[in-house]
Amino acid sequence: MVTEEQNIRLTRVGPETPGGALLRSYWQPAALVEELDDERPIVSVTLLGEELVLFRDDKGKYGLMDRYCTHRGADLCFGRLDNGGLTCTFHGWVFDSDGQCIEQGAEPIGSKFYLNVSQKAYPCVERNGIVFAYLGEGEPPPVPSLDAFTAPESHTFAFKGYLDCNWMQAMEVGIDPSHASFLHRFFQDEDTDEQYGKQFRDKAASSDMPITQLLREYTRPIIKTDKTDFGIRLTTLRELNEDQLHVRVTNCVFPNAITIPMSREMAITQWHVPIDDTSSYWYAVFTSFGDEVDKETMRDQRMADLEMPGYKSKFNKANKYGFDPVQQATEIYTGMGYDINVHDQWAVESLGPIADRTKEHLSKLDIAIVQFRRMFEAGMAAVENGEDAPLRFSEEDSAKITGPPAIDAFGKPDTWQDDWVVWEQERRDAASWS
Ligand code: FES
Ligand SMILES: [Fe+2]
Repeated sequence: MVTEEQNIRLTRVGPETPGGALLRSYWQPAALVEELDDERPIVSVTLLGEELVLFRDDKGKYGLMDRYCTHRGADLCFGRLDNGGLTCTFHGWVFDSDGQCIEQGAEPIGSKFYLNVSQKAYPCVERNGIVFAYLGEGEPPPVPSLDAFTAPESHTFAFKGYLDCNWMQAMEVGIDPSHASFLHRFFQDEDTDEQYGKQFRDKAASSDMPITQLLREYTRPIIKTDKTDFGIRLTTLRELNEDQLHVRVTNCVFPNAITIPMSREMAITQWHVPIDDTSSYWYAVFTSFGDEVDKETMRDQRMADLEMPGYKSKFNKANKYGFDPVQQATEIYTGMGYDINVHDQWAVESLGPIADRTKEHLSKLDIAIVQFRRMFEAGMAAVENGEDAPLRFSEEDSAKITGPPAIDAFGKPDTWQDDWVVWEQERRDAASWS
């Protein structure tokens, strides 16, 4: 049972909040690299409630700093990329990628005032299509060696989408395996060979059964959780018969990412990142263990239901998420089309801007959600007490944070614990890059 006070602690993300301080202890996605692809690589970024400007300077270095100029407050998103940094167009002050003022064109010749002036700035790193930022105190932690980061760029595809609600309820869908049998139910199975780039539409490793059929017919899973060196591993078991057990391995990568299977070939690592208290982005890196990723197809599929600017869904509360009662009766459980991102979007946004956890009745199937909230609360308390945030690793330990394994596979009831490990390892061994 979550109290109102606990719910506030879990969901508020500003710099002065315990949740905001914990999330700031880790690298967070700030933008897609593709957002900085045009002639003028400057974008506004609102991250953890802070209004920022992200740019790439003439040497290719990223700068992320306060959006409003420290001189008189003009909007630096309208700045110029010249003189070796980002120039405010109000009075010509220039800031380098570390936020240091390096020139003040209107000051008297010989003035050294610029040496004492800087914008608040945050470090950035680029990994496989995403610019990550560190908004915390002190030195940033190393980037862990997750598959999403160690796979070559050719075998990954990065994308994002907007959610009109607090980040945590989106995260909690990612660690809730039972919803897939209902929220993502299709009444007919499609040809699994034609479903490239779509989640839950392939077969599981080691079987001919489409995942859509499995989810539809076996709705009462057993969910097991294990604490790991990156967070929580979820193992979801669906018993088909005395000989066959479906095993789905997914992960909570603490504090705000998940790694889940996408198909036999691909896994998804997805971050749920607060824009502010009541809106968030999901950022995903799709990682292939097989062929290079067909980025154009992946992008076209996702853009079909999105609008720019802002990577916002065309479907929302105002148009009832495209709800069609005829389709609900005959084709799709939700009646909200074939894109499962829209189903998830409806589910998380319908909980309200910030879900009221005081009214929930959690069941056995919500075991990972309960554990995650406890971990998050313990993390907030640690940071409040001046201790290290959990799972913030040293350079050496960070190199050991790999994978994590994410797979759909069938196993035998008495050997499934080893069976999925073997299939996962075979796939990893076959990958050209792993
Ligand atoms: S407000 Fe930016 S230089 Fe004056
Ligand atoms: Fe879902």
